[in-house]
Amino acid sequence: MTIKSQNNFGLNFVGSGSATPSQIIKNDDLRIRVETNDLWIKTRTGISERRIIGENESLTGLSSQAGQGAIQMAGWDPENIDLLILATSTPDDLFGSAAQIQASLGAKKAVVFDLTAACSGFLFAVVTACQYLLNGSMNKALVIGADQLSRWVDWDDRGSCILFGDGAGAVAIQSIPEAENGLLGFRLRSDGSRGNCLNLKSIEEYKPLVKDSIYQKGGFSPINMNGQEVYKFAVREVPTILDELLSETNVKPSDLDWLLLHQANQRILDAVADRFKIPYEKVLSNLASYGNTSAATIPLMLDEAVKDGRVKPGDLIASSGFGAGLSWGAALFRWHGPL
Ligand code: COA
Repeated sequence: MTIKSQNNFGLNFVGSGSATPSQIIKNDDLRIRVETNDLWIKTRTGISERRIIGENESLTGLSSQAGQGAIQMAGWDPENIDLLILATSTPDDLFGSAAQIQASLGAKKAVVFDLTAACSGFLFAVVTACQYLLNGSMNKALVIGADQLSRWVDWDDRGSCILFGDGAGAVAIQSIPEAENGLLGFRLRSDGSRGNCLNLKSIEEYKPLVKDSIYQKGGFSPINMNGQEVYKFAVREVPTILDELLSETNVKPSDLDWLLLHQANQRILDAVADRFKIPYEKVLSNLASYGNTSAATIPLMLDEAVKDGRVKPGDLIASSGFGAGLSWGAALFRWHGPL
């Protein structure tokens, strides 16, 4: 979908922030737990280590830190933020963790809520926030992508536990006159009929309530994943959705400054780049250090590349997220930086 502003509003990405846990788990550390090795993990995934939340850290804490970083870069007063969306599948509170983040940031005026779309959550949340900015009803939105999948990984399943890590990233998005709009287009997709290849389901345990009635006890089973099916889904759907988005916006792959994909597996990143003949130097990757941090991967990667000067104001970025649901999406935007 190309962007059609309703009231002559556009938007810009004006700040980024990120935060990762201090505890580092290297590939070789996992050998103590499951039968695996550094070479296998590196060759099949590109991952060398991941960060896992320990005792004195939390998803809410990392999210607040990431949000704070984006607010600072944007030069915003937190009291002027209109909207805060936390994209996560692993909140500290099932009623939503966004409000605790709002309180710690002092974003008193902001409407806040959690949004769940697994590893696609950040892109889904950015597109959601952008609707409010483009229709003129809001001016400043903070979007945070954060996950603590380490809570739900089966640490005895070598087929999946090697992939995931914890982290948080954020972007500050501000409405501006339409002529300078930095979001060129987006596409989002979902397909529940293929959801069984990656899920984190509630447990089916029933307890007696009163008389003959029962209730379902709360809790979730560990992540269940068919790696090969998810791999095939990603290398088929991500190029397709990016292709549709580029055609719709009349952008050629060679026009892109950066490809910013959900960091799930280096082989998936390389396959998408090959499909569009995009040189690997233009494909942002920090998988080696963090693994797959779910909703956090895209803003975490963006923040790193903005801070180290790779991504510069005006750079054109094609981003795509994909994951459980199944869900996937793509967005085409220009990084602006502080106004
Ligand atoms: N260490 C060593 N060997 C392992 C292993 C590990 N951690 N995990 C699996 N193996 C073994 C398998 O048992 C199998 O052995 P076999 O040939 O003796 O049966 C062999 O390695 C190949 O397994 P396979 O599952 O075919 O590997 P793969 O090349 O498909 O790689 C993934 C597995 C999970 C890395 C890959 O499928 C993948 O990344 N899929 C996408 C997952 C994903 O991104 N999920 C999140 C999406 S948001």
